[in-house]
Parts: sequence; structure tokens; C-alpha cells
Amino acid sequence: MPFEPLDPARVARALTTQWLGRPCECLESCGSTNDVAAARGRAGAAEGLVVVTEEQTGGRGRLGRNWHATPGANLTFSVLLRPARPPVEVPPLTLLAGAAVAAAIASFGVEPRLKWPNDVQLVGSSGPAGSPSGPKKICGILTEMATEGDRVGHVVVGIGLNVNETALPADLGGRATSLALATGRAFDRVSVLAAVLAGFEDAYDDFRTNGPTAAVRRWAAYGAIGTRARVRVGEHDLEGVVQGLDPDGALRIAADDGRVHRVVSGEIT
Ligand code: BTN
Repeated sequence: MPFEPLDPARVARALTTQWLGRPCECLESCGSTNDVAAARGRAGAAEGLVVVTEEQTGGRGRLGRNWHATPGANLTFSVLLRPARPPVEVPPLTLLAGAAVAAAIASFGVEPRLKWPNDVQLVGSSGPAGSPSGPKKICGILTEMATEGDRVGHVVVGIGLNVNETALPADLGGRATSLALATGRAFDRVSVLAAVLAGFEDAYDDFRTNGPTAAVRRWAAYGAIGTRARVRVGEHDLEGVVQGLDPDGALRIAADDGRVHRVVSGEIT
């Protein structure tokens, strides 16, 4: 099904940002927008470059997974940043990006929820016919950093947002959805991109001054706080109730024995 193409002139007209997405490079196809943006970063491109593509032939997710997106239907893009903050403060940019996506898609009438650290889900949304009920993933975020000595060289925040996807792979087990599946209508991807970048720019300007707390505060507005979760931490599973985030972005989870744990990296299963 053909959708409006992602072209630089349409994107430039839709953007309300000062610096993010200026420029926005629109590709027909590439391996991974994170790799293209990282290459531009190594070549000296300025903070704010966005690379968006109609098709990824090697889209990557966290933990070595693939990222599936039907060509021409979704948003797969990466943002190049050069934060003058210590490397340890970079991972919360994933939370910041998730919050920007959540706020943007909420403005299109769906109910997002953030699953730490990198998923945006829709609550009670419909997915493919016959799929199980419960929250479904609509967006994933992959943040990658290049350091120069003990400083940040550049950061690439890659965002895969299912917009007009209607053919989700069976191996996702009905646990994914898209804006189109959730609402029954098609979306102009340029408008969605512009809404995400507007919120991202605002949050990142705050992050420049205030660091991770800018991300944590925004994440909490949509975070799956108070829900039960099982977190895979290395070889172990930790089960309990999500209490929220620490100021540095670590997940706070109250285990069933009453002890509160801090999870710095891991995955909620
Ligand atoms: C995840 O949920 O595991 C993260 C998925 C990240 C996918 C996006 S699509 C744009 C960018 N390019 C990639 O290769 N990956 C990210």
C-alpha cells in the first residue's frame, strides 16, 4: 500500500523545531539508519542531523535482535547528538526519546505507556486480528554512543515507530501493534515525525542543562509505574512491582520480599 513518501521538502515544511531535523536526510533504503547517522557523526556532521529511511535492510534492535518494518509504511530514523555531558549520563536519552514518542502519539489519540528502558507500548490496543489482549509494543529505541577518550564523541538515538504497519511478523506473537492497527486509519508519517522531533528537541534542550533528570521526569508521565514486572538482570530474574526511576534513570523495583532493587541495565520480560 503506497503512503506519502518521506521527502526533505515535506519534512522541512512540517518541522516546528529550531535545530533538530535540520537537516533531515531522507533515504530510499539503507542497512540501518543508526549506522548511517554514526558515519555522518564520524565525518563531523553537526548535532541535530536526522536520518530517516523508507526501508532498512539490516534494522537493528537491542540485544542483537532484528528490527522489522515493512518498507514505506513506518518511521525508522536516527537522531545525531553531541551532548556536552559525561558518557554515564547518555543511556537516559533512551528514556527521553521514549517520552517524546509517547507524548507525540498521545496527541494522535492513542494511549501510550513506557516500558523501561526502551519500549513504547499501547495500552489495551488492538493488534493483528486474533492477537492476545494486553499492552503491545509500537516503538523501540536503540541508543548508541561513540566516545573520544573519556568524553562523548557523538550519540545516535535510533527510533523505530510502527505507523501504518499492518503486516507484523507472526513471531512477534501478536505483542506488537501500529498506529494504524490501533486506530483503524492511516497516518501521514511526516506529521508524526514532526511531532516526535518537536517534543524531543524540547526535552533535549532541558537535558543539556539538567542532565538525566530531564528524561526521568518526562518518562514518569507515561511510565508503567505500579505494574508487576519480571526483569532479566544478567543470568537472574527479579520479580516485583515497578516503583519508578532513580534520578539517574535506573529502574526501582520492589521485590515480593519487600526489598527494593535498583536495576541499571536489564530487560523487562
Ligand atoms: C528495540 O526495540 O530493540 C530497538 C529497536 C530500534 C529500531 C530502530 S529503527 C531506526 C534505527 N535503526 C536501527 O537499525 N535500529 C533503530
